[in-house]
Amino acid sequence: MSNISPVFVIGLFGNPVQHSLSPIIHKHFSLQIKILYMYKTFLCTEKNFFSNISNFFKRKENIGANVTVPFKKKAYNFSKKFLYYSKNSSTVNTLLKISSTLILGNNTDGIGLVYDLKRLKFFKKKNYVLLLGAGGAAKSVIFALLQENCIIYILNRTIKNAKLLVQYFSQFRNVFLFQYDKNIFFDIIINATSSGIFHLSPDFPCDIIHKKICCYDMFYCKKKILTKFLLRCKSLGAQRISDGIGMLVSQAAFSCLHWFGKIPNILKTINFLDNLRK
Ligand code: ATR
Repeated sequence: MSNISPVFVIGLFGNPVQHSLSPIIHKHFSLQIKILYMYKTFLCTEKNFFSNISNFFKRKENIGANVTVPFKKKAYNFSKKFLYYSKNSSTVNTLLKISSTLILGNNTDGIGLVYDLKRLKFFKKKNYVLLLGAGGAAKSVIFALLQENCIIYILNRTIKNAKLLVQYFSQFRNVFLFQYDKNIFFDIIINATSSGIFHLSPDFPCDIIHKKICCYDMFYCKKKILTKFLLRCKSLGAQRISDGIGMLVSQAAFSCLHWFGKIPNILKTINFLDNLRK
């Protein structure tokens, strides 16, 4: 297959993108769904993001893109029309070219996260969720979590940003600003900050962690080692922990569905990556 020129090209725009596992995931998907496409990374800056992505879509074979940290809000501004999840989060991680002037934006992060939390059996009927972070990553997943009966508390390093996020989702009622209260018992804690990029864990009160809490880091390391956030949760007694590799694969599979109308095998691909990361 590698000797034939790909029919389609998908771009990944972000910063950093050099160490992304997405090209490996999509190579695996391409073989599974039997559609030849190449997945190319583009390292962008705040200054050149719009020009890079506009130029990319000028080429006929470039039919779609993923956008990652820290450009998901910018990708929303770039899109001309929106699908459900991007409309409700004002963030975009998946772009589909309908025509040279019509780029459709969607966000598969939220459904990717929910799929993975279900795979891990982290969900109960009703879940009290502590969401760490108030940037694009956090904003991308809130709407999908709300649809799964989650009551979400936001904790962020900069309180002002957390307040803005709570305000944005105020019409849905179940999104609150975290204020320390010993009586709130959280079922799930999710790290949606970018602190992992800097090899740090975000700060949170120690006694949030109990034996039964499910700890999920949307971040992951290229090698199968615990992130700083998960290390902290584990050292505080958490027993159910997971990094974001399953979310990465799931959101990629739902993006693939947008571009090609076919959904690859998510579980098979998670296993494939797990073996590769050993
Ligand atoms: P993204 O689109 O990836 O969410 P972002 O919009 O820059 O990127 O947001 C990054 C988030 O991670 C923010 O919530 C940020 O906190 P601030 O609002 O205080 O900036 C959070 N963050 C980044 N580094 C962090 C760290 N070392 N500790 C805690 N939170 C951190």
